[in-house]
Amino acid sequence: LHLEEHHLQPETKEVNGILMSKMMSDNWDKIWNFQAKPDDLLIATYAKAGTTWTQEIVDMIQNDGDVQKCQRANTFDRHPFLEWTLPPPLNSGLDLANKMPSPRTLKTHLPVQMLPPSFWKEKSKIIYVARNAKDCLVSYYHFSRMNKMLPDPGTWEEYVETFKAGKVLWGSWYDHVKGWWDVKDQHQILYLFYEDMKEDPKREIEKIVKFLEKDISEEVLNKIIYHTSFDIMKQNPMANYTTLPSSLMDHSISPFMRKGMPGDWKNHFTVAQSEDFDEDYRKKMAGSTITFRTEI
Ligand code: A3P
Repeated sequence: LHLEEHHLQPETKEVNGILMSKMMSDNWDKIWNFQAKPDDLLIATYAKAGTTWTQEIVDMIQNDGDVQKCQRANTFDRHPFLEWTLPPPLNSGLDLANKMPSPRTLKTHLPVQMLPPSFWKEKSKIIYVARNAKDCLVSYYHFSRMNKMLPDPGTWEEYVETFKAGKVLWGSWYDHVKGWWDVKDQHQILYLFYEDMKEDPKREIEKIVKFLEKDISEEVLNKIIYHTSFDIMKQNPMANYTTLPSSLMDHSISPFMRKGMPGDWKNHFTVAQSEDFDEDYRKKMAGSTITFRTEI
């Protein structure tokens, strides 16, 4: 009971101006001092950008398209979520990562300036996935409603303002995508877009295969495309987060595998809200060369 109460109204606390859960901020020194290894692969994203999808694609590539192997455990146990901190006896990301034999694949939502420096020093490979702001916002809103480990999003109108102000866990979407974009050519970073993955999964999966220096047959490639499609992943209990108790994630409020389509923002924003959002967006993104598609 206490454990659940602890989750229901999660306290938050900023670290270097970035909102975190209190438990993450209390653990920050350990997270910052995490020791990465040269053969680590890091999947970095802003929340709701397509992390789980990318994790499944990567796992399928690493296991040469063996679906059974990819069902060995939940997504969150296959790939430790570096900064995610939970009260014992639950497993925190750091504990899982430190226990895991190499080569490890890890997940993070940290903004670039907060990535533990050992990743840069050890030159670990990083796949970054970005998704357009409006769809990210919609997805994050619904996720915050169903995930009791996240702060309550309030009303839709309130949440739009909270998101624009970057007062959500892991901070500003705008700073996140721009920050990672700015460093992508200085490190081994494959920078992908959710909309591109949806438009042509084959092309984008092939980019990942190449980045991982793997060689796979056409048959395995097709198997990966199929197994990582939205409809199949939605039914995969090892990928859809339904094995968590409903006191943590309540899929009856909004399923984790919700829509999986670019452009769902149109079903949420009013025309006025959208125009207002776009005007603010232009100011926040001015000076960056990054461009997003809000539909495909
Ligand atoms: P929606 O809420 O818009 O449906 P993350 O894994 O970073 O938390 O992102 C979750 C979002 O990715 C959700 O978006 C989810 O439906 C979507 N998603 C998960 N698997 C997907 C897949 N195979 N294809 C397309 N979208 C997927």
